Amino acid sequence: MTLSHFSKNVVRCASAVAFSVALAASAQNQSSSRPWMNKSLSSDQRADLVIQQMTLDEKMNFVHGTGWNGLRPNAEIPKGSLGGAGYVLGVERLGIPGINMADSAVGVRLGAPGSHYTTLLPSVVGAASSWDPDALFLYGDVIGRELRNMGYNMSIGGGVDLAREPRNGRNFEYAGEDPLLAGTMVGKLAAGVQSNQVMGDIKHYAFNDQETGRTIVNVKIGQRAARESDLLAFQIALGIAHPAGVMCSYNKDTITPPETTPDWSCENDYLLNQVLKKDFDFKGFVLSDWGGTHSTEHAFTAGLDQEQPGSKYFGDPLKQAVQSGKVPQSRLNDAVHRVLRSMFADGVIDNPPQFEETDPFKGRDDAEHIANESIVLLKNAENILPLKASSVQSIAIIGSHADVGVLSGGGSAQVDAPGGNAVGPKHAGGSRWMEHVWFPSSPLREIRRHAPNAKIDFNDGFDAASAARLAGSSQIAIVFVQQWMSEGMDRPTSALPVIDESGKKVNQDDLVNAVVAANPRTIVVIESGGPVTMPWADKVQGIVEAWFPGIGGAQSLASILFGDVNPSGRLPISFVKSDDQLPHPRVPGLHTAGPGSLPEAGFQKETAFDADYNVEGERVGYKWFESKHETPLFPFGFGLSYTTYEFSNLRVDSGQHTATFTVRNTGSRAGTEIAQVYAVLPASTGENSYKRLVGWDRVTLNPGESKTVTVPMNPLTLSIFNVQKNGFEMAPGDYQILAGSSSADTPLNATLHVAQ
Ligand code: BGC
Repeated sequence: MTLSHFSKNVVRCASAVAFSVALAASAQNQSSSRPWMNKSLSSDQRADLVIQQMTLDEKMNFVHGTGWNGLRPNAEIPKGSLGGAGYVLGVERLGIPGINMADSAVGVRLGAPGSHYTTLLPSVVGAASSWDPDALFLYGDVIGRELRNMGYNMSIGGGVDLAREPRNGRNFEYAGEDPLLAGTMVGKLAAGVQSNQVMGDIKHYAFNDQETGRTIVNVKIGQRAARESDLLAFQIALGIAHPAGVMCSYNKDTITPPETTPDWSCENDYLLNQVLKKDFDFKGFVLSDWGGTHSTEHAFTAGLDQEQPGSKYFGDPLKQAVQSGKVPQSRLNDAVHRVLRSMFADGVIDNPPQFEETDPFKGRDDAEHIANESIVLLKNAENILPLKASSVQSIAIIGSHADVGVLSGGGSAQVDAPGGNAVGPKHAGGSRWMEHVWFPSSPLREIRRHAPNAKIDFNDGFDAASAARLAGSSQIAIVFVQQWMSEGMDRPTSALPVIDESGKKVNQDDLVNAVVAANPRTIVVIESGGPVTMPWADKVQGIVEAWFPGIGGAQSLASILFGDVNPSGRLPISFVKSDDQLPHPRVPGLHTAGPGSLPEAGFQKETAFDADYNVEGERVGYKWFESKHETPLFPFGFGLSYTTYEFSNLRVDSGQHTATFTVRNTGSRAGTEIAQVYAVLPASTGENSYKRLVGWDRVTLNPGESKTVTVPMNPLTLSIFNVQKNGFEMAPGDYQILAGSSSADTPLNATLHVAQ
């Protein structure tokens, strides 16, 4: 970054903050002339009072953005904008600030151009592995406070699309394959953002479940399946967070009934007006994904409130449509009301952000805390883990730049690494699109710190034979493998990609095979955006899924490897043995398969195509495998601990919808079990060939300790969606309630009875 670029950004930032502070101050002084500043009124009343004073042009500014802002090199950055992904003009004369929006899926994006430190959190799919709603609230809290420190008043993170397509390049931004788990986790995340008086967002509504052809694909799904899967995740998240924004997605949808022909998600009356605003009672505003608006009257009437990032459809064309009466004033007022009431409700008018330095250590500690709960131990043969610092003499650390850093995911979720990318050339102004960015949290250094007397050597893994030689001469080998993921791409297969770096290629499966052949005491650490296949799983002794673990990742990983932290993460997404087990063995629309190749070609495809999600319908992930009698490699909900647990004595209260049972720690270490409750619905529903998650609890136990827990079962997850009645209902009959440690291990069984 040049000095002038730096100072320009600092000045821009300071002036934007000064602008909003000045607005707040003048608003206070003028509270009598500005009755909407009366905090005893409701957000809706306050919004209406402002609208009464607004001119048509001022209202129009609220229904679109001001252009590509900081996202495109030569885009104009208007006064008041901080140069984030989006900006909406405020109304200075009425004391209403503009809206500064920043991408912040896994931490705040675009920190580097303004010389800000922002914390890289573990990926959302990692954080969801904690099954800890408090950890997700903390996740959002970190994002909210850092946004606020930078002067932003809106986050546009909050991905809750289901991991229906496990090769989706954005699964690391999402919270797994189950609607209850994903909805709860992302709802808490958005609530954590909003607890900082920063507006929150949930995206991408809806069915943006693959990146291949995301701007042309037509998703086909039945209404009942839609409501019981992806839309249920949104419904649950919205109910928890009441976010300011919902971002509609790029794809088209055909949801049958009522739809018979495809409609873009951002102009889909059923999705926006009927479901989101009416059925879910969403009071905030719908903003389009960037460039996802396709029309004026059609989109606005269907429920899209704000075009982003520019004004092609909702600028002059919409103004003319309002003036000519083609679009009623009342609809314009409704859209503006939704924006304004969200600003009042989230406090961004009463308490606008003020520039403050971010504490990088606090952010890093929070990220490490979340990572401690996110990392999943998948295999631990002969108790190879935890490693004992006192007895381990030598360790070979191999691959994936584990000497210097941990991997992060790309696209609009990319956070700038402090000090620049730990691998490869540094450049000014932060990371580049599609760059593989490594954060300076070194596993080698942290492992050495835990075992200072052991001989610990690193081999980069580019030459399998030399890696195997080092492994063969060491007591223990730890191989790091990676699956980089990003917006704008899917992986053609679930296989570990072949790494191709500076002309050097590594087939990672071959690397693991070579290492384990040289030393059976091999542990594999996976840094991935989603599930991967593991043809070597039977041979190695340890497997640890670290996801993209964030800026505290290496510290957390070493704490788990050496047992300072007892792993408690559980998979929020199934790991298949082979893609043949999936409902779509090939990613729909992707015709360029081949392990390791990046299918940008698929993303660019110009010919529209269908993704027929009717194949699996609501049976996303583990539900599909169970109904098809397929055994995945590692099931949903699975994860090991350094202790063992026993479940007993399940009782179900059919009236209260609760499951009560006892969990005992039968091992010799303290630990946290994720006690999971599933239900199999009565046969009359036609949805009885699989179980579904209905609740869970985190139970922390000392050795020998037992606790009896009562888990509320979410009634929505015990219900089916009745299309005729447009509502969820519980079918009469017997529900099999199961409790245990994963979707594939439910030793307890009882019956919940629903009367006719
Ligand atoms: C992504 C959104 C993101 C937006 C702004 C789009 O490409 O799909 O998730 O918020 O860009 O950066």
